[in-house]
Amino acid sequence: MSILIQNGILVLPTGPIQADLRVAGGRIAELGPGLAPGASRVIDAQERLVFPGFIDTHTHFEMNKGFPNETADDWYTGTRAALAGGTTTVLDFAEPERGATLASALETWHGRADGAACCNYGFHMTVKDWSPSIRSELREMTAAGVTSYKVYLAYDNLRLSDAAAYEVVKAVGAEGGVVGCHCENGDLVTEGIRAQQAAGNLSPAAHPLSRPPAVEAEAVGRWLTIAELAGCPVNIVHLSTLRGLEAVRAARTRGQRLYVETCPQYLLLDERSYRLPGFESAKFVLSPPLRAQENCAALWDALEAGEIDTIGTDHCSFRFHGAKELGREDFSKIPNGIPGVEHRPSLMYTYGVAAGRITAVDMARLLAENPARLFGMYPQKGVLAVGSDADLVIFDPNDTGRITAETQYQNVDYTPYEGMALRGRVDTVLLGGEVAVEGGRVLLERRGRYVSRGPSGFWR
Ligand code: URP
Ligand code: ZN
Ligand code: ZN
Ligand code: ZN
Repeated sequence: MSILIQNGILVLPTGPIQADLRVAGGRIAELGPGLAPGASRVIDAQERLVFPGFIDTHTHFEMNKGFPNETADDWYTGTRAALAGGTTTVLDFAEPERGATLASALETWHGRADGAACCNYGFHMTVKDWSPSIRSELREMTAAGVTSYKVYLAYDNLRLSDAAAYEVVKAVGAEGGVVGCHCENGDLVTEGIRAQQAAGNLSPAAHPLSRPPAVEAEAVGRWLTIAELAGCPVNIVHLSTLRGLEAVRAARTRGQRLYVETCPQYLLLDERSYRLPGFESAKFVLSPPLRAQENCAALWDALEAGEIDTIGTDHCSFRFHGAKELGREDFSKIPNGIPGVEHRPSLMYTYGVAAGRITAVDMARLLAENPARLFGMYPQKGVLAVGSDADLVIFDPNDTGRITAETQYQNVDYTPYEGMALRGRVDTVLLGGEVAVEGGRVLLERRGRYVSRGPSGFWR
């Protein structure tokens, strides 16, 4: 069946235009003013914005599966929440057991997502240890549509040595892929935690003290040195500090090619959340931690200046009761991560576009086009163009409301954005040319498709 979206404000890379858009056969078939309805089902999009489906390239669904700190959202609930909020594609992190092949992790992640996912999906591959045999595995990953990787410089069970990180960047770069990095100095974090414990600071308030901004800034600088020596563009995930940003600026001034992700929580929430009474602030324990307000302001400035390339959520949800509570006696045992996959588009619209900080075109670039380009999905995804997949969001900028855990799809008993006002809401979502969400309610479930990705399309 074909659908004609009439009279919407189409958010094109060149600017918004009032026009119609027809989808047929799962793709965008036509766009322009005054298209004839013919036999198409008509959706009236008057006074609504039509965005390319949003892409969240940073989620963790079914993480730590089988352990007490397993995430609350599985592939079904997490992608259903994503879809309800206007996200039509997610990239999650497949993670091999130490010493196991990348292919084994890919198989495991497919087993979890295939047939369960409500939005489209792909996988980054986490590299936890380096051996030359991984080089030969990369070819196989490319053929399977996995062209991006993630390394950690923190977390004792995940982190790589600098030499190993260098080998990964070089090998992935030779394949035309990109490596993203969790930038915190793992040694100093371990020591920071030990020092807080030794001082008897065991509440969630000790979490940010154990990993201050310098710990991120050092790792950003080191990661960029590793990339410079390897001679390959790299990505920095969840940048949270002005100091980290300064390291980014210094590298770019030297001519280095690199990409930066930040997340809504680092723009909209700050360290005051760690002063809540009792154990309440465990809801805000994630890494990197929330920062002093001046960092949020610096990230907004960077966003306005075009220095940030993508906005992902780092959705990693744990229930307050049962999971976050594992750390009631010791903050270091609180599972790290917060939910957010459902709320990124409406938050970025409200506090970015409606607040006059960025334009709707900027929002489409940060939440759809750049993620698609960096991770080898463009122009199949990320843009309103004839021939592109008909993953679309019809967004009502006049619909107001508030975020609350009571009405969210996310399978978790709180949201860090509880009570925050929204100006603008996702109304209708098309997934592969079919109406998957209407009036904010999910109609189509388990219809997500695996996205086999190509090489990174670097643009800077
Ligand atoms: O605290 C967080 N962010 N947990 C998820 C894993 C990561 O570091 O991205
Ligand atoms: Zn991380
Ligand atoms: Zn993450
Ligand atoms: Zn409880």
